[in-house]
Amino acid sequence: MDDDNSINDVMKNGISVGFIGCGTIASSIATGLVLAHNKENDRVTKIKSMIISKRSESKSNELKEKFDNDNSSFSFDITENNQEIVNQADIIFLTVLPTQAKDVLNSLKFDPKRHILISLVSTTNLEQLANYSKLNLSNVSKMICLPSIARHEGIALLCCGGNDSTSNDDTGDKKISNKVLLKSIFNSMGGCVVLDTEYDLEACMVTTCTMGPLYGTMKKQRDWLLDNTNGLTKTDATNLVLKQFQDNDSADTEDNTDIDMLEHLINEQTPGGLNEQALKNYSILGGLHNIQQKVMDLIVNRIRGISNGEIK
Ligand SMILES: NC(=O)c1ccc[n+]([C@@H]2O[C@H](COP(=O)([O-])OP(=O)(O)OC[C@H]3O[C@@H](n4cnc5c(N)ncnc54)[C@H](OP(=O)(O)O)[C@@H]3O)[C@@H](O)[C@H]2O)c1
Ligand SMILES: *[C@@H]1O[C@H](CO)[C@@H](O)[C@H](O)[C@H]1NC(C)=O
Ligand SMILES: *[C@@H]1O[C@H](CO)[C@@H](O)[C@H](O)[C@H]1NC(C)=O
Ligand SMILES: *[C@@H]1O[C@H](CO)[C@@H](O)[C@H](O)[C@H]1NC(C)=O
Ligand SMILES: *[C@@H]1O[C@H](CO)[C@@H](O)[C@H](O)[C@H]1NC(C)=O
Ligand SMILES: *[C@@H]1O[C@H](CO)[C@@H](O)[C@H](O)[C@H]1NC(C)=O
Ligand SMILES: *[C@@H]1O[C@H](CO)[C@@H](O)[C@H](O)[C@H]1NC(C)=O
Ligand SMILES: *[C@@H]1O[C@H](CO)[C@@H](O)[C@H](O)[C@H]1NC(C)=O
Repeated sequence: MDDDNSINDVMKNGISVGFIGCGTIASSIATGLVLAHNKENDRVTKIKSMIISKRSESKSNELKEKFDNDNSSFSFDITENNQEIVNQADIIFLTVLPTQAKDVLNSLKFDPKRHILISLVSTTNLEQLANYSKLNLSNVSKMICLPSIARHEGIALLCCGGNDSTSNDDTGDKKISNKVLLKSIFNSMGGCVVLDTEYDLEACMVTTCTMGPLYGTMKKQRDWLLDNTNGLTKTDATNLVLKQFQDNDSADTEDNTDIDMLEHLINEQTPGGLNEQALKNYSILGGLHNIQQKVMDLIVNRIRGISNGEIK
């Protein structure tokens, strides 16, 4: 009950968030947070302030245009100074590449009584995050999500350093735990699955990383269709594949379909990241060309009565 009341207060009064790094995943989460904020619903987390890195200027400018001229119901800032992000916000998203995470955290000064760190960096573990940031493990979390969180689609994975529903600070006041707070934030953004251990989080991550080969498979289907038909347009081929996988938000009427959607889904993968590796490994090991391509060729031959599907 106490938890419920405290959470309601946080949701109404708003959270102050900061993003260190402003690439694909940072701008997707920021967009998703603002989408929740703009909903007229008490159960949804409100934003008090947001501050993001100027880095990747095209992306941060895009966010500025979207949010700053907004109805200014929260304050929005962009800065080149990572420490300023930490100083202005309570909840800090770490959204830099794996190779950058350690140096970035080591160079920052967090307030252990104030800050909650949420790292999107797939390969840095909770213990390292706590060590580099000098925050208590109970205030450090790892989160995994896809860019579709911008539209509140898909589901976020979350693993929090602390397990209890509440914790006591020095004054003995009951505080909402990291886990309870983050769960309510991400539940208003399409939902989240909270794992108790990093071991379980790592297993769940395999599913998200193998979206790479899935997009590769879909693109291969489209390309095969274009190679094996005479009159099918790229728009129709793209729609056929997307709708079949029920991404009906992206596949729209003929005029609205982004015919390079599959390339975009593949390009959104983190450079050097796990999805990119999964797709590359899948291709190198022959998955796309030696297996998928051949199977599609065999099947079409069977459909056309050319063969019974045997591999010659
Ligand atoms: N993309 C996804 O779908 C996805 C999904 C789940 C998790 N992740 C994770 O999220 C993290 C970011 O991935 P991403 O795809 O968003 O990569 P990204 O688009 O390359 O974004 C990285 C961002 O970090 C900035 N940056 C680099 N060094 C910095 C520094 N010292 N201080 C402040 N900002 C700095 C970059 O700025 P510049 O461009 O100016 O260098 C860029 O804005 C990765 O660790 C990845 O594992 C990504
Ligand atoms: C600003 O407020 C108006 C009216 O309340 C709303 O229709 C509009 O969507 C808001 N702008 C954004 C960017 O959310
Ligand atoms: C975690 O952070 C909160 C503020 O968000 C603070 O009140 C609490 O003392 C911190 N917990 C620990 C164990 O440091
Ligand atoms: C944490 O960092 C210190 C140096 O600041 C290092 O000596 C120690 O081994 C690290 N511990 C872990 C568990 O990584
Ligand atoms: C983190 O906080 C917990 C609970 O307040 C405490 O028991 C633990 O010693 C702290 N760990 C560190 C490394 O400060
Ligand atoms: C959290 O609780 C689960 C059981 O509920 C336990 O298995 C796990 O080790 C705990 N994790 C931490 C970090 O204490
Ligand atoms: C996508 O499918 C869902 C469920 O079938 C439906 O409610 C929604 O309206 C569809 N969206 C579009 C853009 O077609
Ligand atoms: C898997 O991909 C990684 C990263 O691109 C590459 O270093 C590695 O050689 C690949 N391994 C196989 C078996 O394809």
